[in-house]
Amino acid sequence: MEKLKFRNIPGPKSKDLLQKAQKFEPACSLDQTPVVWDHGDGVWIWDVDGNPYIDFTSGVLVTNLGHSHKGLTKAIQKQAERLQNTYSFPTPERIEAAERLVKTLPPHLTRVFYLTTGSEATEAAIRVARRYSQKTEILSFYGAFHGRTYGAMSVGGMRNIRNKFGEMVPGSVRAPYAYCYRCIYEKTCPDCGFYCIKVLDEHLRGNSNNNLGAVMVEPYQGAAGFIFPPDGWLKALEQWTRERDLVFIVDEVQSSFGRTGRMYAIEWEDVKPDLLCLGKGLGSGLPVSALAGTDPVLEAMDPGELSSTWGGNPLCSSATLAVLTAIEQENLSNRSLEMGNYLTPILHSLQEKYPCIGDVRGRALVQGLEIVEPDDGFSPSKELTRKIVFNAAERGLLLGKVGIFGNVIRIAPPLVIKKEEIDLAMEILEQSIALALD
Ligand SMILES: Cc1ncc(COP(=O)(O)O)c(C=O)c1O
Repeated sequence: MEKLKFRNIPGPKSKDLLQKAQKFEPACSLDQTPVVWDHGDGVWIWDVDGNPYIDFTSGVLVTNLGHSHKGLTKAIQKQAERLQNTYSFPTPERIEAAERLVKTLPPHLTRVFYLTTGSEATEAAIRVARRYSQKTEILSFYGAFHGRTYGAMSVGGMRNIRNKFGEMVPGSVRAPYAYCYRCIYEKTCPDCGFYCIKVLDEHLRGNSNNNLGAVMVEPYQGAAGFIFPPDGWLKALEQWTRERDLVFIVDEVQSSFGRTGRMYAIEWEDVKPDLLCLGKGLGSGLPVSALAGTDPVLEAMDPGELSSTWGGNPLCSSATLAVLTAIEQENLSNRSLEMGNYLTPILHSLQEKYPCIGDVRGRALVQGLEIVEPDDGFSPSKELTRKIVFNAAERGLLLGKVGIFGNVIRIAPPLVIKKEEIDLAMEILEQSIALALD
């Protein structure tokens, strides 16, 4: 494989387009490394100046199949020629997509409702849980990200998402997540015996109006910085939830469809949520999300009460069928695990070499590098993170950055990545770190 050449970014064509974007789009949509994407193939992206990049973002953990996957592209093309929108009139594609998706789920989740975005799926989960439980409070977690619409934002636990929007939807009760690297209780896991779960009742005594109906949680926190709770934590939380007869909602909008080396991240802990929110990788590029649930919980809604203009539209349903076929035929969950097993030791060896990597955490092809000040080895370094991400883009590797403190590098390539591509990406990452420290 050819080595990638250094390029100044943005290139001339990208620069012109970005200037235009600055004129016609609000600043809030211009928060990325300045690379204007033109086309993609597998894990590769080319910008409008013709520069190739290895994509370690998957367009925010969406394109699990890789860019412009042939089977998916064909399915969309074929469907587009036949029928594109029906609103809630059913189509064979939607019904088949529902059946196929249900078959991939743990058996207790028997139905799915198709929507368009992840936020729509989490919003729907909140509505259903409130209706079913007849209670309004939802326990969620510090650092949680469930979307940017009002209900989703209100149960979210990141201040910068709710920043200066005034009052949120009432009913949200938040407690600390198992962010063991920066445990706010200053405990050490596993010796603490999941202290953050042990104190939940105490926490509720001060924060709840005794009207708690549900718990909503991500199996790992994405936006907060790829924070992976210790093994057994999600199971312990499920048990706590069951003992209190609460609706258990797991938000797998980003962690599903092979990303963690299993179809769903909940499989690692064998937890059985009442509601499961899905999105991103489900369409692998097309806007598809879904709310999966058990019969009794979903049946709390009357006909017509969940509805969305494009939910289950024929184009997205055909895309979903193509995605599910590709995941199965290309064995993408196992592939993700295999490539993750190859990648993880390389990331750990970088951590040993560079004290600015405070923590490496993740599973399969979703890994986070928490970047810290090399002097003290712990304070979050947003600036160093920014520099590494920029240096990498100049050398042909696209990375994302996330985190409560903006100091986590997101490693999440399409699941079709090969070992040689990982090697190349890691070489670039190492150069980019060394340069940022210079
Ligand atoms: C866990 C989780 N839930 C919900 C969402 C919101 O999804 P969307 O941006 O499609 O509305 C995201 C998006 O990043 C997410 O990671």
